[in-house]
Amino acid sequence: MRADGEFTKEVALKTVRVGYDVSSVLERFRNERQILASLDHSNIARLYDGGTSAEGIPYLVMELVDGIPIDSFCDAGKLNITRRLELYLEVCSAVQYAHQRLVIHRDLKPGNILVTKKAIPKLLDFGIAKILDPATATDVTIVRPMTPEYASPEQIRGEPITTASDVYSLGVALYQLLTGRSPYRMTTRTPHELSRAITDTEPERPSTAILRQLAAKDSSSASRTPEQLSDAREPSLAKLQRRLSGDLDNILLKALRKEPQRRYASVEQFAEDLRRHLDGRPVSARKDSWSYRSGKFIKRHKAGVAAAALMAATLVAGVAATVREAKVAERNRLRAEKRFDDVRKLSNSLILKFTIRSNGCPARHRHESCCSTARSSIWTNFPATPAATLNCNASWHGAINVWRWCREIRRSPI
Ligand SMILES: Nc1ncnc2c1ncn2[C@@H]1O[C@H](COP(=O)(O)OP(=O)(O)O)[C@@H](O)[C@H]1O
Ligand SMILES: [Mg+2]
Repeated sequence: MRADGEFTKEVALKTVRVGYDVSSVLERFRNERQILASLDHSNIARLYDGGTSAEGIPYLVMELVDGIPIDSFCDAGKLNITRRLELYLEVCSAVQYAHQRLVIHRDLKPGNILVTKKAIPKLLDFGIAKILDPATATDVTIVRPMTPEYASPEQIRGEPITTASDVYSLGVALYQLLTGRSPYRMTTRTPHELSRAITDTEPERPSTAILRQLAAKDSSSASRTPEQLSDAREPSLAKLQRRLSGDLDNILLKALRKEPQRRYASVEQFAEDLRRHLDGRPVSARKDSWSYRSGKFIKRHKAGVAAAALMAATLVAGVAATVREAKVAERNRLRAEKRFDDVRKLSNSLILKFTIRSNGCPARHRHESCCSTARSSIWTNFPATPAATLNCNASWHGAINVWRWCREIRRSPI
């Protein structure tokens, strides 16, 4: 309020929390003031001025918005999904407007999106995060996100911030608006768990997240049961689930992708997909491809995948070895059969020779001649034949041994 009484206007004053380096805040404010004050959009609360109080505390003078945070507004009015999306499109147009003027919000969340009684959303604190954060004096990085729940993975990691970070935060806020749930299933909600979820965990599909029961101690949501949250949105839980599954699942998951370059390239494209969905036209967001998802899976479960791959390789090697062994065994069987056949033929011919010679030779020569013929023939063809069997030079017994052995082979089954 102006002290000279020339005109009065109620404004909001934002002072800097204790702990900030006051002089650097002022310096950043001076740098940014021109840009922020030039943001002239019906859905953006104007930044009028700033200064230092008598006590030396910096303050910002802003348009006073008579409204309530967008999530409370939607729940209080029991707005259905279509109405919530239409309202959100106005929010997107404001963010897109600022992005075209190279201003990134950096702290988008329901608390910074107030909706007036006339249902006009107004964005607060545009670019203020940059002024208040000591890490952003000169560059575009932010080390300590203002509101971790809505911070993008790159904000959590302290990496460069682009307009894609606002796309992500807009995605989280819309996810909550439509589902009444956080994109990540968490048990403790400690800052550490939250940071890990944001950087490493894939968000749950919105159509599935609405079925999640909240613990009674979790006071962050008024809609603890799925029925309570669907009651504020659609006639039944089944209808809400049908409304979210498909397009809206895909659109939100695309806005929430971990890699900034895989999200919507601009807020305008995000809004365009929401409009396409409302008009019943095909949206650009698709489910992640199988190869991309399997790539991510492998990255997340390196050890498990390596173990499974090793097992699979062992199995394949085992099967290959068994097949090879079987082939070798079959080959050996055929070879053995052929040899056996040869032996039989040979034994037949030997018995014949033996008989003929026995009949035609003088007695003392018979056995020697027959035995040597048999022995040399068998050894030539079958070097592995036991010597004892053929040790038949000296006597008739030896010759008869050979004869028996041949007969034995001839009779035995293949
Ligand atoms: N320009 C404003 N007009 C009306 N209410 C405001 C304005 N700025 C902030 N508020 C209210 O003050 C609350 C705290 O705001 P703020 O100091 O920016 O904290 P936060 O870090 O949660 O955004 C907001 O949730 C909002 O309800
Ligand atoms: Mg705020």
